[in-house]
Amino acid sequence: MATKEPPLFRDIDRVLIDREAIAARVRAMGAEVAADLQRAIDRHHDPADAQVVLIPILTGALVFTADLIRQMPMMLCLRVVAVSSYPGRSMASKGAKIAGELPQDLAGKHVVIVDDILDTGQTLAVVKRLIQEQGPASVRICVLLRKPESCRKERIDADYSGFDIPDEFVVGYGLDYDGFYRNYPQIAVLRAAATSALESRA
Ligand code: XMP
Repeated sequence: MATKEPPLFRDIDRVLIDREAIAARVRAMGAEVAADLQRAIDRHHDPADAQVVLIPILTGALVFTADLIRQMPMMLCLRVVAVSSYPGRSMASKGAKIAGELPQDLAGKHVVIVDDILDTGQTLAVVKRLIQEQGPASVRICVLLRKPESCRKERIDADYSGFDIPDEFVVGYGLDYDGFYRNYPQIAVLRAAATSALESRA
């Protein structure tokens, strides 16, 4: 008897970045970010005083961050921040606002903001601005995916980017559509039928 394919897989139109490519790139990114941070720490008068804080933006950066930090063999703290960027089911970003508390003790620390994707740049611009106001030792932005510069509504770029992708709505590896598909292990584009089915449920 043929087994029925679960909707999670059935809804995928095509895979843009497969799990092997993601794993290899995240491994390299972790090593690069850690090496840069270590160099910054070594420049401190007393390197033991230097502190590294990674700030993943929930919920999309969850899967990426979990893999990234395990490629960073150094002392670091994790402090999450939640940002609501596009209410409802729409694929279009409508601006960003902090939903909850941003860590307030970042002065003098080396901060790395981690996000799943740089698209319009509104989310990262808000978070970076609020962090910079606290006077950290440094602020870096690390994203898994980056859409073309023509998508930006803010003048912002990532210091580390895993993959440049076309201007298409993607899901998987932490990225969602309507809260779903975050557990799909690769970066993929949904079938149009899947998105319209979810929209008609609204
Ligand atoms: P902005 O536009 O502020 O986007 O740079 C940041 C947040 O918007 C979400 N986003 C996406 N989510 N597929 C997704 O699943 C996409 O193609 C996409 N583009 C933007 C995401 O949460 C990101 O952190």
